[in-house]
Amino acid sequence: MASANSLREKLEKISPSEKTEQVIVQYFANPLLYELGFDDLEIRPQFETGCGKVDFAARKNTEATDIFYNSQKNPYLFLEVKSRTYDLSEGSSTYEEAVDQVKGYLSRERSKSAKWGIITNASYIQIWRKHGKVVHPATANLSINPDNIETIVRDLRNKLENYERALTICVYNNKGGVGKTTTVINLAAALAAKGKRVLAVDFDSQGDLTRSFGLSPGEITLTQCLKDPKIDVHSIIQSLSYPINNRFPYIFDSTLDISFDIIPRDPELETLTDSQSLAYIQKGTR
Ligand SMILES: Nc1ncnc2c1ncn2[C@@H]1O[C@H](COP(=O)(O)OP(=O)(O)OP(=O)(O)O)[C@@H](O)[C@H]1O
Ligand SMILES: [Mg+2]
Repeated sequence: MASANSLREKLEKISPSEKTEQVIVQYFANPLLYELGFDDLEIRPQFETGCGKVDFAARKNTEATDIFYNSQKNPYLFLEVKSRTYDLSEGSSTYEEAVDQVKGYLSRERSKSAKWGIITNASYIQIWRKHGKVVHPATANLSINPDNIETIVRDLRNKLENYERALTICVYNNKGGVGKTTTVINLAAALAAKGKRVLAVDFDSQGDLTRSFGLSPGEITLTQCLKDPKIDVHSIIQSLSYPINNRFPYIFDSTLDISFDIIPRDPELETLTDSQSLAYIQKGTR
């Protein structure tokens, strides 16, 4: 990929302690936007979000009459650029500030159409995704260098062009009896009643969620599916449907049954140690 190599070459030219944001803009941020598939008329520098100016906003031009550079309407992606001396390592207070900044940009009325926020200082890069009112990390905060930039940019572009529309909500707490299972059941039912497609996954070794619906795993289990990348995840999903107890007609207008999908817990799951589970994930199976 010749063009990504040129991004690599540009990255090589930036000093590890580059203090000037403008250098990062010119040698990294602008070429990065080109690599992510935007051209000059699809990129607007210093875009006013209603919560301050973000370094770049971008959006594909779909009609000849609506050129984003001119109209500045319906931004799709924001890119916030920092100098290399601005610490973007995770946990630093400056990283937290930059994250808050991008969340702020994405949450304004003027940015309603914006789905993505990227933060970079040419040493780190992280992309955030907005889903409704929730802004969540779509990648880890990735450390970048000339050797990995090509792969990272390819993955980012892939994410932008084929983004997953599902929002994953994890209900987790080490303390017992605090309402985790109850939350999952009610959240799944409420979202389903509002017309969302919901998949509940029982990763709890106790399997209360699975038991509360009187389910047991089918022929293929969650553990087998996690271990074997050839198993199609659809083969372990079960569908539930039950009449709605509509005590909240002002919230749910549905008179239909509530339906959502569930992946039941299976007893073998707890035999997987943390390191084994991690190994399966690192192998890229799931
Ligand atoms: N908002 C609530 N108000 C009152 N009682 C609740 C509430 N949420 C849950 N409970 C009750 O608290 C108890 C524990 O709830 P639940 O089983 O959901 O917790 P849990 O965190 O999943 O527990 P465990 O750690 O055993 O998996 C249950 O009896 C449940 O009915
Ligand atoms: Mg529970």
